[in-house]
Amino acid sequence: MKRKILITGGAGFIGSHVVRLFTTQYPNYHIINLDKLTYAGNLENLKDVENLENYKFIKGDIVDSDFINTLFDKYDFDGVIHLAAESHVDRSITNPMDFIMTNVVGTVNLLNAAKNNWGNGKNKLFYHVSTDEVYGSLGDTGYFLEDTPYDPKSPYSASKASSDHFVRAYGNTFSLPYVISNCSNNYGPNQFPEKLLPLFINNIIENRELPVYGDGKFTRDWLYVLDHAIAIDKIFHKGKIGDTYNIGGFNEWKNIDLIELLCEKMDAALNRERGTSKKLITFIKDRPGHDKRYAIDANKIKNELGWEPSLQFDEGLSKTIDWYLNNKSWINNVTSGEYQKYYKQQYK
Ligand code: NAD
Ligand code: DAU
Repeated sequence: MKRKILITGGAGFIGSHVVRLFTTQYPNYHIINLDKLTYAGNLENLKDVENLENYKFIKGDIVDSDFINTLFDKYDFDGVIHLAAESHVDRSITNPMDFIMTNVVGTVNLLNAAKNNWGNGKNKLFYHVSTDEVYGSLGDTGYFLEDTPYDPKSPYSASKASSDHFVRAYGNTFSLPYVISNCSNNYGPNQFPEKLLPLFINNIIENRELPVYGDGKFTRDWLYVLDHAIAIDKIFHKGKIGDTYNIGGFNEWKNIDLIELLCEKMDAALNRERGTSKKLITFIKDRPGHDKRYAIDANKIKNELGWEPSLQFDEGLSKTIDWYLNNKSWINNVTSGEYQKYYKQQYK
């Protein structure tokens, strides 16, 4: 009997890498990808796996509880890997309600369906994919650990924190078997060009300004997306039920330093004179409530599950730049339509 695994948000950035990894590594699993195909979901991300026998795509909304309950009745899933979310902090500032609906209500709909269908939960697993932003913001020192108290500061992180709490509450109250991981900033192919790196790569290609928020001295810890997908694989198969795992790249960068490195690499990749891209840097009004620093202590997953990032950042960044330069039609497709309006609104 094939194990039936529901992956939500599988047409998005991280989800598409998880779907590819699971469909190709585990031919004995039946992977069902449920995605609403919002502006961030794109089936082009999965062209290479769409005809695999062990893969099926279903278009649907996790906010629709009747639809979710029917889906669980029909497929009797053995596991859920839940990635579907509204994921961009800036959009959560202009439109928090979308985040409450998908990230909180959508997650609770999935939890209810799993609880009602899974009996005693034996051999079942609800894997909730979350973010380090639930821990809030760090000063110049220190790291987020798995037991760092939650202190979300943006509508996005508040919605993710709320969904994490619901997952733990269902584990505690209904014995629903779950794991949660909280990861740092991902980068790599197929990331929608609203997030820092793909936005700036695209703007450099287009000779557009690089809008740096505030003084640019905000710090993030960057992880290549495939390394996140590999960590999810490890946790799904070897993680302890009811546990939380922090995932990070051991790779902190101040935004401005990262942007300057990107500019240098882009000049080289585009055969432009050194210093050309840097001239596009423009400091703009800060993001409201901008978290100063995130840094993950990923020693638990390293020591307990033997995971650590496989790719050096320099190589990962070069691979990412190459991917965007070689996939201009992907960028054109995702930036036509709604994106134009979003961009004008966000950077007016
Ligand atoms: P993304 O925005 O690229 O993709 C989200 C996907 O979810 C899209 O395919 C979208 O169509 C789908 N979706 C949105 N609303 C839905 C709904 N109501 N019903 C069904 N599908 C819906 O996001 P991402 O960057 O790939 O992030 C995936 C998950 O990982 C999210 O839960 C996010 O919070 C978490 N995460 C992201 C990062 C990061 O750096 N990107 C880091 C840590 C954790
Ligand atoms: O830490 C994990 C989180 O990382 C994920 O949970 C989120 O889904 C993901 O979007 C990301 O959140 P950030 O807010 O850190 O990512 P973003 O790419 O939006 O911004 C990275 C940094 O760059 C942040 O300090 C804000 C800054 N920035 C971003 C944009 C889009 C700018 O200076 N200018 C910009 O135009």
